[in-house]
Amino acid sequence: MIEVIGVSQRFDTQRGEIHALDRIDLEVHENEFVTLVGRSGCGKSTLLRIISGLIRPTVGAVRVAGEQVARPRRDVSVMFQRPALLPWRNVRKNVLLPVEMLGLDKRQYTDRAQALIELAGLAGFEEKLPHELSGGMQQRVSLVRSLIQRPKVLLMDEPFSALDALTREEMSVELQRVVAEESTTIVFVTHSIDEAVLLADRVVVLSPRPGRLERIVDVPIPRPRTLGHNAHADQVSAISAELHDLLQPAPQVAT
Ligand SMILES: Nc1ncnc2c1ncn2[C@@H]1O[C@H](COP(=O)(O)OP(=O)(O)O)[C@@H](O)[C@H]1O
Ligand SMILES: [Mg+2]
Repeated sequence: MIEVIGVSQRFDTQRGEIHALDRIDLEVHENEFVTLVGRSGCGKSTLLRIISGLIRPTVGAVRVAGEQVARPRRDVSVMFQRPALLPWRNVRKNVLLPVEMLGLDKRQYTDRAQALIELAGLAGFEEKLPHELSGGMQQRVSLVRSLIQRPKVLLMDEPFSALDALTREEMSVELQRVVAEESTTIVFVTHSIDEAVLLADRVVVLSPRPGRLERIVDVPIPRPRTLGHNAHADQVSAISAELHDLLQPAPQVAT
């Protein structure tokens, strides 16, 4: 579904050139859930922006559903750390915003909006304004909004990292439930190893800047996955430990 082919990214800044990504090759299959982890500044957000078509890579190319990405596509949704809801629109109207912006027939999406709102645990809140909701609920609205037009691909950039730890865990469990009902290919950026392992079919580890593809770790744990004590706890901790080791800073060489 997504092919990243030899992507490198350099930024010219006042303080010189920043080499953000170096020769990334990655394939994400249809309906796959891939998480992207790496230290701060290793180029995770940049890679997501390149896949979404918001920026063109300095070198290389991205294909989505077989077509080269040159600009944002309507079948690729992006969800960011902050919910970015319109404060004067209620939940239902925020959810239907992409439908309006893409000029789709609103009547065809009203039932879907309601079904997704209920699936995301927002029933009864349809008429509420964003400021009347908790951070976690706002992020659920944002999730529902990014799914409304049935995107083929959903790109998520640390979507839960502004939430408190418990809400965050709850959201990860719930996200699995919501997307299980959809056929969406997902790339999810996080710096939480727990989140990465809970959610992913495969975890892609990037090295520190310039971001290179360090390792791809399979997570062959059956779904639905839960937190805390469960039958796969040993497997989860083995994979988490491997990721911890991969994300350790390289030992400093004395000079
Ligand atoms: N538009 C830009 N202009 C200049 N430098 C940028 C730009 N976007 C990102 N960078 C730099 O590229 C590197 C990677 O950034 P980013 O992709 O945001 O990392 P991450 O999301 O992994 O923390 C950082 O050093 C960042 O400062
Ligand atoms: Mg980032």
